[in-house]
Amino acid sequence: MTVTLRAATLLLSAALAGPVIGQSATDEIAKYRKQLQEGNPAELWEARGEDLWKHKRGPKNASLERCDLGKGPGVVKGAYAELPRYFADAERVMDLETRLVHCMVTLQGFTPAQATARPFGSGTNRSDFEALAAWITSESKGVNMNVPMAHPKEQEAYRVGEKMFFFRGGPHDFGCVTCHGESGKRIRLQDLPNLTDRAGAQLGYTTWPAYRVSQGELRTFQWRLNDCYRQQRFPELKFASEGSIALTMYLARNANGAAFNAPAIKR
Ligand code: HEC
Repeated sequence: MTVTLRAATLLLSAALAGPVIGQSATDEIAKYRKQLQEGNPAELWEARGEDLWKHKRGPKNASLERCDLGKGPGVVKGAYAELPRYFADAERVMDLETRLVHCMVTLQGFTPAQATARPFGSGTNRSDFEALAAWITSESKGVNMNVPMAHPKEQEAYRVGEKMFFFRGGPHDFGCVTCHGESGKRIRLQDLPNLTDRAGAQLGYTTWPAYRVSQGELRTFQWRLNDCYRQQRFPELKFASEGSIALTMYLARNANGAAFNAPAIKR
């Protein structure tokens, strides 16, 4: 792992220094994504996430190993491909982040405020969620997305998420659909996936979390949503809120049938 990671770092610095401007950034990214397939720096986050999962922490000095992500206590393999979903013990639909908060509170004894204090990290100020998400999602690599829709609350979350996706507002009257409602759209050399189209939704969802070359950070799907809220000039999407879960439900469910393929590498 050390060798592949060192090679990856060299490739990354070359990629960052290289003259990408003027040509399609997408081609360049496709090139180094391929080269890095064997040594994605996301592995560092995955390793830290696995440690966090197994490490006894919090007022109750407990690990997350009994956390039920939907397939039974402690079952991580394939769990992410079936999230968000309804959890009877909490009587609501939860996505990965919300479920982790639930386990940090119930198993480890953290307060909700402590558990949600740092959803996203930067530099040395790391987020546990990014590490945990990296590891947990890596355990669904290759598993077909299979988000359930049998429970009325799952159906409700999906409908709310769909509404949010098409809702326009803010100073520019933007909605997700403004940038992600047609195929072949681009902003500043970046391809905008059409998330209303099955293939686009599948690609857009199954490739997060991702190691962001431009930031040197691993970013989660939640981060992606927050960044698009910012681009949309909307107020910040509250972490682990009903709205955040609903929007995730809409996009995750639309990806059903596609093989999950993250943590990935992106620009
Ligand atoms: C003003 C334009 C704009 C709006 C509005 C917008 N996005 Fe985005 N979105 C982008 C851009 C640009 C990217 C690609 C960023 C990149 O490649 O770095 C992106 C990427 C994404 C991706 C990742 C796709 C992939 O293949 O990696 C998802 C998912 C996404 N947006 C969801 C949303 C959702 C949900 C909304 C509504 C809340 C939204 N976006 C609103 C511009 C927008």
